[in-house]
Amino acid sequence: MSHQYTLPPKEAVAELLTWYQANKRDLPWRHEITPYRVWISEIMLQQTRVEAVKPYFHRFLEAFPDVYALAEAEETHLLKLWEGLGYYSRARNLQKAAIRIVTEYGGRFPSDPKELQKLPGIGSYTAGAIATIAFGVPAPAVDGNVLRVLSRVTGDERDILHPHTRKAAEEAVLSLCPAESPGEFTQAMIELGATVCGPNTEPLCKECPLCPWCIAAKTGKTDLLPVRSKKAPRRIEHRTVLLLKEHDRYMIRRRPAKGLLAGLYELPNELGTLTQEEAVAFARENGFQPLHIDVLAPAVHIFTHVEWHMTAYLMTGYFEEHQDRIMATAEEMAGKFAIPSAFAAYIKPITKGI
Ligand code: ADE
Repeated sequence: MSHQYTLPPKEAVAELLTWYQANKRDLPWRHEITPYRVWISEIMLQQTRVEAVKPYFHRFLEAFPDVYALAEAEETHLLKLWEGLGYYSRARNLQKAAIRIVTEYGGRFPSDPKELQKLPGIGSYTAGAIATIAFGVPAPAVDGNVLRVLSRVTGDERDILHPHTRKAAEEAVLSLCPAESPGEFTQAMIELGATVCGPNTEPLCKECPLCPWCIAAKTGKTDLLPVRSKKAPRRIEHRTVLLLKEHDRYMIRRRPAKGLLAGLYELPNELGTLTQEEAVAFARENGFQPLHIDVLAPAVHIFTHVEWHMTAYLMTGYFEEHQDRIMATAEEMAGKFAIPSAFAAYIKPITKGI
């Protein structure tokens, strides 16, 4: 075996499965298991907490109950339903994959993880999760939860962010995956890593079914494992955001089709911290004549690789010409256009109560 993990015995896997049966959380995507529901939930759960995902999962399934509905969805509607979840390329990839599943696979998901991985947005983890949970096909589903559990149980000190470690972990997890219950095993590993052996908290080793075999627990190294190399620090970007208001409408604009928050709507904004005079000049360049200006509270939004430190001005006035900018009411900002959470500090006060 090339993975070099010293794995716990079969008996440990049996203990894990028994623990899962007795302790699994009641989560919406576990009520009825279909490939579509597993897929949507796993994509939503990437980088997003379970509690945050729940209402999105319900709304999404109501709007798009199956892969055909998703394939035919209006992009604006799809992005609106995703608003606030972040990483919007996930939503676009869901639709691209849905179209392929309809056109190339007759509406049925493939069950082979290699085939699943050919679809947009489905990586090794998601393919393993769908194959095991929805189809009962043995496969490794290794996410951050599973890497944490595996590194602690085996006392493995390799950097979990290194691709070689992930590859080795996949081999190890596949060799542990029981042929009779692959889906239960995947979910049990994730569940253990999410609840008992969680991130950023003391692990609850007394409750852990793998504790008798756990090297980290035995050697007091749970707080040192998993080993994770330092990521590059986030870049800080100063931006000035403008709320340009005429009567009951605000100017919004569409972001470019490529790059951060591609294709979503936003408040007009400019790189740098503009003074009031500079902000007024910027508004005028956009065809807006301000009559009154208020300075709003600064706000910070943290993305994966960049932080926006925002200065903002509210200007009331009138537009001289309308070109291709969009003038949206508070209702439209709340209900129609997908505006990323980065602007929430300035949008929420306008749309609250709607
Ligand atoms: N995190 C990733 N996948 C999950 C799942 N299926 N249930 C709970 N948490 C998860």
